[in-house]
Amino acid sequence: MEIFVTGGAGFIGSHLCERLLERGDGVVVFDNFNDFYDVRFKERNAAAIATRRGCEIVRGDLRDRAAVFAAFKKRPFDAVVHLAALAGVRPSVKDPSKYNEVNIQGTINLLDAIRERPSTKFIFGSSSSVYGANSKTPFAESDPIEKMVSPYAVTKRAGEQFASCYHSLYQIPTVCLRFFTVYGPRQRPEMAIAKFASLIERGDPVPVFGDGRTRRDYTYVDDILDGVIKSIDRCGGYELFNLGESRTIELRELIDVLAREIGKPAKLQFLPPEPGDVPVTFADITKARAVLGYDPRVAIEDGVRRYVRWRREQNSL
Ligand SMILES: NC(=O)c1ccc[n+]([C@@H]2O[C@H](COP(=O)([O-])OP(=O)(O)OC[C@H]3O[C@@H](n4cnc5c(N)ncnc54)[C@H](O)[C@@H]3O)[C@@H](O)[C@H]2O)c1
Repeated sequence: MEIFVTGGAGFIGSHLCERLLERGDGVVVFDNFNDFYDVRFKERNAAAIATRRGCEIVRGDLRDRAAVFAAFKKRPFDAVVHLAALAGVRPSVKDPSKYNEVNIQGTINLLDAIRERPSTKFIFGSSSSVYGANSKTPFAESDPIEKMVSPYAVTKRAGEQFASCYHSLYQIPTVCLRFFTVYGPRQRPEMAIAKFASLIERGDPVPVFGDGRTRRDYTYVDDILDGVIKSIDRCGGYELFNLGESRTIELRELIDVLAREIGKPAKLQFLPPEPGDVPVTFADITKARAVLGYDPRVAIEDGVRRYVRWRREQNSL
Protein backbone atom coordinates (compact mmCIF):
# COMPACT_ATOMS: atom_id res chain seq x y z
CA MET A 1 0.00 0.00 0.00
CA GLU A 2 1.00 3.64 -0.42
CA ILE A 3 0.43 5.60 2.78
CA PHE A 4 0.57 9.33 3.52
CA VAL A 5 1.50 9.92 7.16
CA THR A 6 1.09 13.43 8.55
CA GLY A 7 3.19 14.02 11.65
CA GLY A 8 5.48 11.16 10.61
CA ALA A 9 8.54 12.79 12.20
CA GLY A 10 6.85 12.82 15.61
CA PHE A 11 6.70 10.25 18.38
CA ILE A 12 3.86 7.97 17.24
CA GLY A 13 4.22 8.83 13.54
CA SER A 14 7.87 7.82 13.28
CA HIS A 15 7.19 4.43 14.88
CA LEU A 16 4.26 3.93 12.54
CA CYS A 17 6.38 4.75 9.47
CA GLU A 18 8.99 2.21 10.53
CA ARG A 19 6.37 -0.49 10.91
CA LEU A 20 4.76 0.32 7.56
CA LEU A 21 8.11 0.33 5.74
CA GLU A 22 9.05 -2.97 7.41
CA ARG A 23 5.98 -4.63 5.98
CA GLY A 24 6.70 -3.25 2.49
CA ASP A 25 4.36 -0.27 2.30
CA GLY A 26 5.45 2.97 0.62
CA VAL A 27 5.32 6.00 2.92
CA VAL A 28 5.26 9.74 2.35
CA VAL A 29 5.73 11.73 5.56
CA PHE A 30 4.26 15.22 5.75
CA ASP A 31 5.59 17.17 8.74
CA ASN A 32 6.64 20.75 9.43
CA PHE A 33 9.21 19.83 12.10
CA ASN A 34 7.84 22.52 14.39
CA ASP A 35 9.54 23.52 17.64
CA PHE A 36 6.76 22.36 19.99
CA TYR A 37 9.60 20.33 21.49
CA ASP A 38 13.30 20.03 20.64
CA VAL A 39 13.37 19.62 16.87
CA ARG A 40 16.49 17.42 17.08
CA PHE A 41 14.22 14.58 18.26
CA LYS A 42 12.20 14.87 15.06
CA GLU A 43 15.29 15.20 12.86
CA ARG A 44 16.61 11.99 14.42
CA ASN A 45 13.27 10.21 13.97
CA ALA A 46 13.12 11.26 10.33
CA ALA A 47 16.76 10.40 9.65
CA ALA A 48 16.11 6.84 10.83
CA ILE A 49 13.55 6.28 8.06
CA ALA A 50 14.52 8.77 5.32
CA THR A 51 16.93 6.45 3.53
CA ARG A 52 14.67 3.40 3.67
CA ARG A 53 13.28 2.15 0.37
CA GLY A 54 9.79 3.53 -0.31
CA CYS A 55 10.09 6.46 2.11
CA GLU A 56 9.91 10.12 1.24
CA ILE A 57 9.91 13.01 3.71
CA VAL A 58 8.07 16.21 2.78
CA ARG A 59 8.60 19.25 4.99
CA GLY A 60 5.32 21.11 4.84
CA ASP A 61 2.73 22.78 7.01
CA LEU A 62 -0.87 21.59 7.22
CA ARG A 63 -1.98 25.21 7.32
CA ASP A 64 -0.48 25.72 3.83
CA ARG A 65 -3.26 24.37 1.63
CA ALA A 66 -1.19 24.41 -1.55
CA ALA A 67 1.59 22.44 0.15
CA VAL A 68 -0.89 19.84 1.40
CA PHE A 69 -2.46 19.45 -2.06
CA ALA A 70 0.96 19.21 -3.77
CA ALA A 71 2.22 16.56 -1.35
CA PHE A 72 -0.98 14.57 -1.65
CA LYS A 73 -0.47 14.35 -5.43
CA LYS A 74 2.96 12.69 -5.06
CA ARG A 75 1.57 9.15 -5.25
CA PRO A 76 -1.90 7.60 -5.55
CA PHE A 77 -2.30 6.93 -1.83
CA ASP A 78 -4.36 4.03 -0.48
CA ALA A 79 -4.55 5.55 2.98
CA VAL A 80 -3.80 8.69 4.96
CA VAL A 81 -2.90 8.43 8.65
CA HIS A 82 -3.37 11.90 10.11
CA LEU A 83 -1.20 12.34 13.21
CA ALA A 84 0.12 15.87 12.69
CA ALA A 85 -1.25 18.19 15.35
CA LEU A 86 -0.40 20.43 18.20
CA ALA A 87 -0.68 17.72 20.81
CA GLY A 88 -0.37 19.11 24.34
CA VAL A 89 -3.39 19.75 26.55
CA ARG A 90 -1.97 22.47 28.80
CA PRO A 91 -0.43 24.70 26.06
CA SER A 92 -3.79 24.66 24.28
CA VAL A 93 -5.31 26.55 27.22
CA LYS A 94 -2.80 29.35 26.55
CA ASP A 95 -3.14 29.47 22.75
CA PRO A 96 -6.48 28.10 21.53
CA SER A 97 -6.30 30.01 18.22
CA LYS A 98 -3.12 28.26 17.14
CA TYR A 99 -4.66 24.89 18.02
CA ASN A 100 -7.67 25.84 15.94
CA GLU A 101 -5.49 26.75 12.94
CA VAL A 102 -3.39 23.59 12.99
CA ASN A 103 -5.75 20.95 14.36
CA ILE A 104 -9.03 22.07 12.80
CA GLN A 105 -8.18 24.13 9.70
CA GLY A 106 -5.19 21.87 8.97
CA THR A 107 -7.46 18.81 9.11
CA ILE A 108 -9.96 20.46 6.77
CA ASN A 109 -7.17 21.24 4.28
CA LEU A 110 -6.14 17.59 4.34
CA LEU A 111 -9.71 16.30 3.96
CA ASP A 112 -10.21 18.68 1.01
CA ALA A 113 -7.16 17.15 -0.69
CA ILE A 114 -8.47 13.62 0.02
CA ARG A 115 -11.95 14.35 -1.31
CA GLU A 116 -10.42 14.71 -4.80
CA ARG A 117 -9.59 10.99 -4.49
CA PRO A 118 -12.32 9.83 -2.09
CA SER A 119 -11.48 6.12 -2.22
CA THR A 120 -8.45 6.95 -0.03
CA LYS A 121 -8.86 5.60 3.50
CA PHE A 122 -8.59 8.21 6.25
CA ILE A 123 -7.33 7.26 9.71
CA PHE A 124 -7.49 10.10 12.22
CA GLY A 125 -5.46 10.23 15.44
CA SER A 126 -7.96 11.57 17.95
CA SER A 127 -7.65 11.59 21.72
CA SER A 128 -9.20 10.35 24.95
CA SER A 129 -9.24 14.00 26.01
CA VAL A 130 -12.54 14.39 24.11
CA TYR A 131 -14.20 12.56 27.04
CA GLY A 132 -13.16 15.46 29.27
CA ALA A 133 -14.62 15.24 32.73
CA ASN A 134 -16.77 12.22 31.87
CA SER A 135 -17.53 10.60 35.21
CA LYS A 136 -18.72 7.25 33.86
CA THR A 137 -15.88 4.77 33.56
CA PRO A 138 -14.63 3.10 31.52
CA PHE A 139 -15.18 5.56 28.65
CA ALA A 140 -17.10 4.05 25.75
CA GLU A 141 -17.38 5.46 22.23
CA SER A 142 -21.15 5.79 22.71
CA ASP A 143 -20.78 8.01 25.81
CA PRO A 144 -22.08 11.54 25.34
CA ILE A 145 -19.26 14.05 24.83
CA GLU A 146 -20.42 16.99 26.90
CA LYS A 147 -17.71 18.13 29.24
CA MET A 148 -14.54 18.89 27.30
CA VAL A 149 -12.11 20.83 29.47
CA SER A 150 -9.36 21.91 27.07
CA PRO A 151 -9.23 23.64 23.68
CA TYR A 152 -7.07 20.71 22.51
CA ALA A 153 -9.96 18.31 23.22
CA VAL A 154 -12.36 20.55 21.30
CA THR A 155 -10.06 20.55 18.27
CA LYS A 156 -9.80 16.75 18.35
CA ARG A 157 -13.58 16.38 18.58
CA ALA A 158 -13.94 18.82 15.69
CA GLY A 159 -11.51 16.69 13.68
CA GLU A 160 -13.68 13.62 14.30
CA GLN A 161 -16.77 15.52 13.28
CA PHE A 162 -15.22 16.87 10.08
CA ALA A 163 -14.03 13.36 9.27
CA SER A 164 -17.55 12.02 9.84
CA CYS A 165 -19.08 14.82 7.76
CA TYR A 166 -16.65 14.26 4.85
CA HIS A 167 -17.42 10.56 5.02
CA SER A 168 -21.14 11.37 4.62
CA LEU A 169 -20.54 13.86 1.82
CA TYR A 170 -17.83 12.07 -0.19
CA GLN A 171 -17.89 8.47 1.15
CA ILE A 172 -14.24 8.65 2.29
CA PRO A 173 -13.66 5.40 4.25
CA THR A 174 -12.79 6.69 7.72
CA VAL A 175 -11.61 5.47 11.12
CA CYS A 176 -11.18 7.86 14.05
CA LEU A 177 -9.03 6.48 16.86
CA ARG A 178 -9.13 7.91 20.37
CA PHE A 179 -5.64 7.27 21.73
CA PHE A 180 -5.30 7.02 25.52
CA THR A 181 -1.99 8.53 26.77
CA VAL A 182 0.67 6.92 24.62
CA TYR A 183 4.19 6.24 25.93
CA GLY A 184 7.31 4.36 24.94
CA PRO A 185 10.63 5.10 23.21
CA ARG A 186 10.76 8.60 21.64
CA GLN A 187 7.83 9.83 23.73
CA ARG A 188 7.44 13.61 23.58
CA PRO A 189 9.76 15.04 26.24
CA GLU A 190 7.06 17.20 27.83
CA MET A 191 4.74 14.25 28.49
CA ALA A 192 4.43 12.85 32.01
CA ILE A 193 6.52 9.68 31.83
CA ALA A 194 9.37 11.25 29.80
CA LYS A 195 9.41 14.39 31.92
CA PHE A 196 9.31 12.48 35.22
CA ALA A 197 12.07 10.14 34.07
CA SER A 198 14.39 13.09 33.31
CA LEU A 199 13.67 14.69 36.68
CA ILE A 200 14.19 11.47 38.64
CA GLU A 201 17.44 10.74 36.77
CA ARG A 202 18.74 14.22 37.68
CA GLY A 203 17.50 14.04 41.28
CA ASP A 204 15.21 17.06 40.72
CA PRO A 205 11.71 17.44 42.26
CA VAL A 206 8.83 15.85 40.33
CA PRO A 207 5.85 18.23 40.16
CA VAL A 208 2.59 16.50 41.03
CA PHE A 209 -0.44 18.60 40.16
CA GLY A 210 -3.24 17.86 42.62
CA ASP A 211 -2.99 15.07 45.20
CA GLY A 212 -1.40 12.51 42.85
CA ARG A 213 -4.58 10.43 42.87
CA THR A 214 -5.54 11.15 39.26
CA ARG A 215 -5.69 7.96 37.20
CA ARG A 216 -4.62 7.41 33.60
CA ASP A 217 -4.91 4.65 31.10
CA TYR A 218 -1.37 4.55 29.62
CA THR A 219 -0.97 2.79 26.28
CA TYR A 220 2.34 1.40 25.08
CA VAL A 221 3.19 2.69 21.62
CA ASP A 222 3.43 -0.80 20.06
CA ASP A 223 -0.17 -1.49 21.06
CA ILE A 224 -1.30 1.79 19.49
CA LEU A 225 0.53 0.87 16.27
CA ASP A 226 -1.28 -2.46 16.14
CA GLY A 227 -4.59 -0.61 16.40
CA VAL A 228 -3.61 1.90 13.71
CA ILE A 229 -2.41 -0.79 11.29
CA LYS A 230 -5.51 -2.91 11.84
CA SER A 231 -7.56 0.21 11.12
CA ILE A 232 -5.70 0.83 7.86
CA ASP A 233 -6.26 -2.75 6.78
CA ARG A 234 -9.92 -3.03 7.78
CA CYS A 235 -11.11 0.52 7.11
CA GLY A 236 -14.45 0.84 5.29
CA GLY A 237 -17.50 3.00 6.11
CA TYR A 238 -17.10 5.22 9.18
CA GLU A 239 -15.90 3.93 12.54
CA LEU A 240 -14.71 5.37 15.84
CA PHE A 241 -12.64 3.35 18.32
CA ASN A 242 -10.92 3.80 21.66
CA LEU A 243 -7.34 2.55 21.73
CA GLY A 244 -6.08 2.13 25.29
CA GLU A 245 -4.78 -0.63 27.57
CA SER A 246 -8.08 -0.56 29.49
CA ARG A 247 -6.19 -0.46 32.81
CA THR A 248 -5.55 2.58 34.94
CA ILE A 249 -2.79 3.54 37.33
CA GLU A 250 -2.64 6.37 39.87
CA LEU A 251 -0.10 9.10 39.23
CA ARG A 252 1.76 8.40 42.48
CA GLU A 253 1.97 4.71 41.72
CA LEU A 254 3.21 5.46 38.20
CA ILE A 255 6.00 7.61 39.64
CA ASP A 256 6.92 4.76 42.04
CA VAL A 257 7.10 2.26 39.17
CA LEU A 258 9.28 4.66 37.17
CA ALA A 259 11.59 5.46 40.09
CA ARG A 260 12.04 1.74 40.83
CA GLU A 261 13.02 1.04 37.22
CA ILE A 262 15.41 4.00 37.12
CA GLY A 263 16.86 2.97 40.46
CA LYS A 264 16.61 6.38 42.15
CA PRO A 265 14.04 7.86 44.56
CA ALA A 266 11.50 10.42 43.29
CA LYS A 267 11.19 13.68 45.25
CA LEU A 268 7.56 14.74 44.93
CA GLN A 269 6.56 18.40 44.80
CA PHE A 270 2.80 18.83 45.24
CA LEU A 271 1.22 21.72 43.31
CA PRO A 272 -2.39 22.85 42.68
CA PRO A 273 -4.23 21.08 39.84
CA GLU A 274 -3.67 22.57 36.36
CA PRO A 275 -6.55 23.83 34.20
CA GLY A 276 -7.40 21.34 31.45
CA ASP A 277 -6.41 18.27 33.50
CA VAL A 278 -9.01 15.54 34.01
CA PRO A 279 -9.31 13.22 37.05
CA VAL A 280 -9.38 9.95 35.11
CA THR A 281 -9.02 8.40 31.68
CA PHE A 282 -10.03 4.78 31.21
CA ALA A 283 -10.74 3.12 27.86
CA ASP A 284 -13.51 0.67 27.20
CA ILE A 285 -11.96 -1.24 24.29
CA THR A 286 -14.77 -3.75 23.76
CA LYS A 287 -15.57 -2.33 20.34
CA ALA A 288 -11.97 -2.21 19.10
CA ARG A 289 -11.44 -5.79 20.30
CA ALA A 290 -14.59 -7.03 18.56
CA VAL A 291 -14.34 -5.14 15.26
CA LEU A 292 -10.60 -4.62 14.74
CA GLY A 293 -9.23 -7.56 16.70
CA TYR A 294 -7.25 -5.02 18.76
CA ASP A 295 -5.56 -6.81 21.66
CA PRO A 296 -3.22 -4.63 23.76
CA ARG A 297 -0.50 -6.62 25.50
CA VAL A 298 1.94 -4.33 27.28
CA ALA A 299 1.11 -3.70 30.94
CA ILE A 300 2.44 -0.49 32.45
CA GLU A 301 5.20 -2.17 34.49
CA ASP A 302 6.55 -3.91 31.39
CA GLY A 303 6.18 -0.79 29.21
CA VAL A 304 7.99 1.41 31.74
CA ARG A 305 10.79 -1.19 31.92
CA ARG A 306 11.16 -1.12 28.11
CA TYR A 307 11.05 2.68 28.10
CA VAL A 308 13.73 3.04 30.79
CA ARG A 309 15.92 0.51 28.96
CA TRP A 310 15.59 2.58 25.79
CA ARG A 311 16.56 5.76 27.67
CA ARG A 312 19.68 4.05 28.99
CA GLU A 313 20.66 2.97 25.47
CA GLN A 314 20.17 6.55 24.24
CA ASN A 315 22.25 8.01 27.06
CA SER A 316 25.08 5.60 26.36
CA LEU A 317 25.27 6.55 22.65
N1 LIG B 1 1.02 10.90 22.52
C1 LIG B 1 -0.17 10.75 23.07
O1 LIG B 1 -0.29 10.36 24.24
C2 LIG B 1 -1.42 11.06 22.29
C3 LIG B 1 -2.67 10.82 22.91
C4 LIG B 1 -3.82 11.12 22.20
C5 LIG B 1 -3.74 11.60 20.90
N2 LIG B 1 -2.52 11.82 20.33
C6 LIG B 1 -2.48 12.36 18.97
O2 LIG B 1 -1.59 11.56 18.20
C7 LIG B 1 -0.91 12.38 17.26
C8 LIG B 1 0.60 12.18 17.38
O3 LIG B 1 1.00 12.55 18.69
P1 LIG B 1 2.53 12.49 19.14
O4 LIG B 1 2.53 12.29 20.60
O5 LIG B 1 3.29 11.59 18.26
O6 LIG B 1 2.94 14.02 18.89
P2 LIG B 1 4.20 14.67 18.17
O7 LIG B 1 4.15 16.12 18.52
O8 LIG B 1 5.45 13.92 18.49
O9 LIG B 1 3.88 14.47 16.64
C9 LIG B 1 3.10 15.38 15.90
C10 LIG B 1 3.88 15.77 14.66
O10 LIG B 1 3.06 16.67 13.91
C11 LIG B 1 3.90 17.66 13.37
N3 LIG B 1 3.10 18.86 13.13
C12 LIG B 1 2.55 19.69 14.06
N4 LIG B 1 1.94 20.72 13.48
C13 LIG B 1 2.08 20.54 12.14
C14 LIG B 1 1.67 21.28 11.01
N5 LIG B 1 1.02 22.45 11.14
N6 LIG B 1 1.96 20.80 9.79
C15 LIG B 1 2.66 19.64 9.64
N7 LIG B 1 3.09 18.91 10.68
C16 LIG B 1 2.80 19.36 11.92
C17 LIG B 1 4.97 17.90 14.41
O11 LIG B 1 6.15 18.48 13.87
C18 LIG B 1 5.20 16.50 14.96
O12 LIG B 1 6.28 15.86 14.34
C19 LIG B 1 -1.36 13.81 17.52
O13 LIG B 1 -2.40 14.12 16.61
C20 LIG B 1 -1.91 13.76 18.92
O14 LIG B 1 -2.90 14.74 19.13
C21 LIG B 1 -1.36 11.57 21.00
